[in-house]
Amino acid sequence: MNGKTILVTGGAGYIGSHTALALIKNGYDVVIFDNLECGHIETVDTLKNLSSYRGRIIDFIKGDLKNPEEVSSVFIRYKIDTVVHFAAYISVEESVKNPQKYYENNIVGSMNLFSEMIKHDVNKIVFSSTAAVYGEPKSSEALQENHEKYPINPYGWSKFMVEQILSDYSKINKIKSAVLRYFNVAGANSEAIIGEWHNPETHLIPNILRATNGKTFQLFGNDFDTKDGTCVRDYVNVEDLADAHLLALDYLESGGISDCFNIGTNEGNTVKEIFDICERVLEQKINVKICERREGDPAFLVACNNKAQKILGWTPKRSIEDSILSAYKWQAKLAEKK
Ligand code: UFG
Repeated sequence: MNGKTILVTGGAGYIGSHTALALIKNGYDVVIFDNLECGHIETVDTLKNLSSYRGRIIDFIKGDLKNPEEVSSVFIRYKIDTVVHFAAYISVEESVKNPQKYYENNIVGSMNLFSEMIKHDVNKIVFSSTAAVYGEPKSSEALQENHEKYPINPYGWSKFMVEQILSDYSKINKIKSAVLRYFNVAGANSEAIIGEWHNPETHLIPNILRATNGKTFQLFGNDFDTKDGTCVRDYVNVEDLADAHLLALDYLESGGISDCFNIGTNEGNTVKEIFDICERVLEQKINVKICERREGDPAFLVACNNKAQKILGWTPKRSIEDSILSAYKWQAKLAEKK
């Protein structure tokens, strides 16, 4: 055991649960705090029952970051070393329709968390941010962290504002932060222990995979200014992403200063390319219908990950084929649960 206890907010969700698993594999003890609005108790139970690792899930607390007493109780009960903060609403479309919900949850919730951290002398955090902070990129080049930030929806703004709050808190030595800006996260645990489980599912790869049973996949827009007319995204494997959090913890632990890092692969795939790869690796034809563009989709979002490589020592190891296959195995397991 490395003896450290990490608080994972949103640990019952997709990326949070994969990171919690990576943490216990690496000897950390983990307290999961989640209101289960989007996360799943089954995921927490699965993680709790894993007993062959050096670390373990020492507790699950059903609680809401919007409730300061619930947050406070965690810090009273456990000596937390570092917080890894995922808990947030993540739907771009919903954020446009209901910005108040996003600002209250993602910003006020985060501020409650930070206040309790400060009160209880917990001063390190890894924060889950997003490529959505860049908005509509100015060119079709891989984005560096210093690219202009101008989100185009309340979800992106909520994450960007929290980044700003953390940056200001860091300047007065209250909290030190490693901000990870994820690009498009894909795949599942390679043994299908846990995986992506959203209701409703809006993401590309699970939606293509769900169409393998004879349904039709809807492709949103083939008239973008890209090589085949469909949007380009940078798909990063969820287990590689979880590893980035471990490296960010090491970075903070070893005295690294507050900073932000793109977590992507330096490579883009169009929606059509992803669809073709799915057909190839699954060796099956999938029905597709070209539909209108979805509102607010930028044409091109690809990370330059040089900073994460250089400073955190992170490199993506798994291919897009690995992500698609692990997602497929997990989808099959999920279908059995329903
Ligand atoms: N797409 C389809 N059909 C689908 C689902 C998606 O054609 O059924 C297309 C989208 O139009 C887009 C691409 O596939 O061009 C990727 O869409 P996703 O919904 O999988 O991912 P996004 O790029 O929209 O969103 C991701 C994260 C967000 C984050 C955003 C940053 O999921 O949390 O990147 O821009 F905000």
